[in-house]
Amino acid sequence: MKIVHTVNDLRAVVKSAKKAQKCVGLVPTMGFLHEGHLSLMTAAKKNTDFVVVSLFVNPTQFGPNEDLESYPRNFEKDAILCENAGVDVLFNPSVDEMYGPDYSTYVNCEGDITKVLCGASRPIHFKGVTSVVSKLFNIVSPEKAFFGQKDAQQVAVIEKMVRELNFDIEIVPCPIVRESDGLALSSRNTYLSESERKDALVLVQSLRLAEQKIKAGERNAELIKQAMKALIETVDYAEIDYVEIVEATTLKSVQKLEGDMLIALAVKLGRPRLIDNIRLWV
Ligand code: PAF
Repeated sequence: MKIVHTVNDLRAVVKSAKKAQKCVGLVPTMGFLHEGHLSLMTAAKKNTDFVVVSLFVNPTQFGPNEDLESYPRNFEKDAILCENAGVDVLFNPSVDEMYGPDYSTYVNCEGDITKVLCGASRPIHFKGVTSVVSKLFNIVSPEKAFFGQKDAQQVAVIEKMVRELNFDIEIVPCPIVRESDGLALSSRNTYLSESERKDALVLVQSLRLAEQKIKAGERNAELIKQAMKALIETVDYAEIDYVEIVEATTLKSVQKLEGDMLIALAVKLGRPRLIDNIRLWV
């Protein structure tokens, strides 16, 4: 596996892969890799011939009071994991390499899709995500790019951006990877204390409760959300950011469940704010 730190070096490696007729796959990450990221690399290995992983903690997607400085990092371990996963190139640029002095060009997906759910409490987040992902798409020009469905809103926003800006790239969403007890994997789980880790199961339990109610015939979104919130609030320090039921592609809120539904939540549990979701056809 090659490790490159500059845009020019990455372009040169990708150019020779393309010259050899290889189908290029991109897995964008912010590092501190876990099984969720590895599942994206496995999907990329299966579906493309040349896998590029980017590892860049992107400052433009963090708000002023968020965890940019303390975001967990372990480059040496991540590089070994990528190598073992059969990755061809690991791109690890500096902030300066990605955003030089006087940087001022952004890609912003306007409209409600970036204002609802996580966008309501993280107003600049998706502008940072779409900007950095566009830059990576322009640098690598992959045929396919792989994203985890845990960040369901991120996938929906990137899919919209790709459609509207005519990027010739297939977005491949990959299923959420969970611990054996159901907790969705996240680099931020590392912030949880042992007891918070146990309490965090209430998130997946509330999603499963919603699923059970839907299977039993409930279609009233408000009643389902109320039951989910009541369960989450059994953890007395849990701060609910949102519990929402939306149409899965547009992220428009629904009153009556019908069609492709996303049930999504964000809850602050001690230090971390955790997100989780399920997508189901009703
Ligand atoms: O999902 C992430 O880790 C990040 O938002 C991404 C897509 C790598 C952009 O920085």
